[in-house]
Amino acid sequence: MTARLIDNFGRQITYARLSVTDRCDFRCVYCMAEEMTFLPKNDILSLEELLQVGTALVNAGISKIRLTGGEPLIRNNVMWLVEQLSQLDGLEELTLTTNGSQLVKYADQLRRFGVKRVNISIDSLQADKFKDITRTGKLQAVLDGIDAAIDAGFEQIKLNSVILKNRNDDEILALVKYASDKNIDIAFIEEMPLGDIVEHDRLLAFCSSDEIRQIIDKEFGLQASDKKTNGPSKYFTLNSNANKNSKTHVGFISPHSNNFCSECNRIRVTVEGRLLLCLGNEHSIDLRALIRDQNADITQLTEAIDKSMAIKPERHYFDLSEQPQIVRFMNMTGG
Ligand code: GTP
Ligand code: 5AD
Ligand code: SF4
Repeated sequence: MTARLIDNFGRQITYARLSVTDRCDFRCVYCMAEEMTFLPKNDILSLEELLQVGTALVNAGISKIRLTGGEPLIRNNVMWLVEQLSQLDGLEELTLTTNGSQLVKYADQLRRFGVKRVNISIDSLQADKFKDITRTGKLQAVLDGIDAAIDAGFEQIKLNSVILKNRNDDEILALVKYASDKNIDIAFIEEMPLGDIVEHDRLLAFCSSDEIRQIIDKEFGLQASDKKTNGPSKYFTLNSNANKNSKTHVGFISPHSNNFCSECNRIRVTVEGRLLLCLGNEHSIDLRALIRDQNADITQLTEAIDKSMAIKPERHYFDLSEQPQIVRFMNMTGG
């Protein structure tokens, strides 16, 4: 199918990340401050408004929607939205990025509503370190959630790990082995400077994808793979020493060391209804104002999404040595 949404740089936009809440039951050190003030209820889109936005996105030619947060599965009644979105004509894929804490409860239902793939964040396999990084998270709940997702039979499960120097860089191999033993994928992410954090100096904590790749290559042997998920991850397979029957792919998401903006295929909608044209820029369109102040219908929302292509920036300019240019925390952006 030819994409309908094409920006000024010729990129075809087919993928939207729709945030359903800024709230989370964790407080990961790279994502949030310890004391967070979340949005008042009136400021966030209702589930019906989120469905309107989802419908307009699909109308505009978006074929893949990923639900994000905060933690999407802590939004009250979120399964209603999943069920409604999954029935939209033209939506080829509905996916979810989660911290895993609620998967024991929801994995089966998600699978039944047609969600084929889930991405689950996990940065440590040691309970005390997991608690340090997430501040409030319980490792066992997430491990149980991952097992529930495996039992539910998703076609693909990808773990996401943000590696920070002197924090969890000693767990890279253990995380790969865990993914390989479970026969699921794992991606390592370079931390991005979104929002002002106090727990660590992002420049000192930076662990490049190249460093991580060398560590894994030395132990397991990595081979470039042609696997593509329509995302920024570059994938490899494991040669040796890992579980023989494992088909695990190891991915690297390298916003600093290997900028992937030229291949960008995505837009985002925050839970306030702000259509963000780039993770690392502020260019946006206020869909909530259109819905609430101008009573916009699906056709008008679709037109607004069409027009937004004119302001999609060419790339982000992340610089870890400076104060973050983007004051939004990741939970406000939706990953
Ligand atoms: P799929 O490829 O669809 O499986 O997902 P993904 O890896 O794009 O999504 P996921 O939600 O697992 O995100 C993993 C990491 O990639 C998060 O830290 C995201 O913020 C980051 N990421 C996703 N899209 C972009 C992007 O457009 N730009 C940048 N810089 N980072 C992104
Ligand atoms: N930089 C990189 N990744 C981040 N995530 C959250 N905040 C950041 C950040 N500042 C990751 C989470 C989750 C995904 C949605 O985004 O670990 O896997
Ligand atoms: Fe929550 Fe995900 Fe942010 Fe961690 S990274 S605090 S799990 S939204």
